[in-house]
Amino acid sequence: MTVYVDVCAVEDVPSGKHRAFLVDDTSILIFRIGAEFYALENRCTHLDFPLEGGRQIGMNIICRKHGARFDICTGKAIVGPAVDPLRRFSVRVREGRVEVKPVAEQGSNPFVRQAG
Ligand code: FES
Repeated sequence: MTVYVDVCAVEDVPSGKHRAFLVDDTSILIFRIGAEFYALENRCTHLDFPLEGGRQIGMNIICRKHGARFDICTGKAIVGPAVDPLRRFSVRVREGRVEVKPVAEQGSNPFVRQAG
């Protein structure tokens, strides 16, 4: 069974922003939208460009390299040139800390956990 790994404090990711953290040799983007957190791999599925620092608009993150747009909730590529979805990770908040399971989740359900 894969356990959750401590990644950062809730305050480390301001609402409407994202930050990358190295978790078990995988660069993972933690997004905070309101009180909710999402975790996606920090690697555009088009040409492996890091997504950190890409423009974040609502529930979308845009790759700085060629403009692919991904849904933060599902990881799906919604505007090309990327086609494949981003890997998603289960995320939770415990006692003010953001924790991630460092194994990509399957399926299409969003992995969202509220702070508190
Ligand atoms: S590397 Fe991200 S869109 Fe091309």
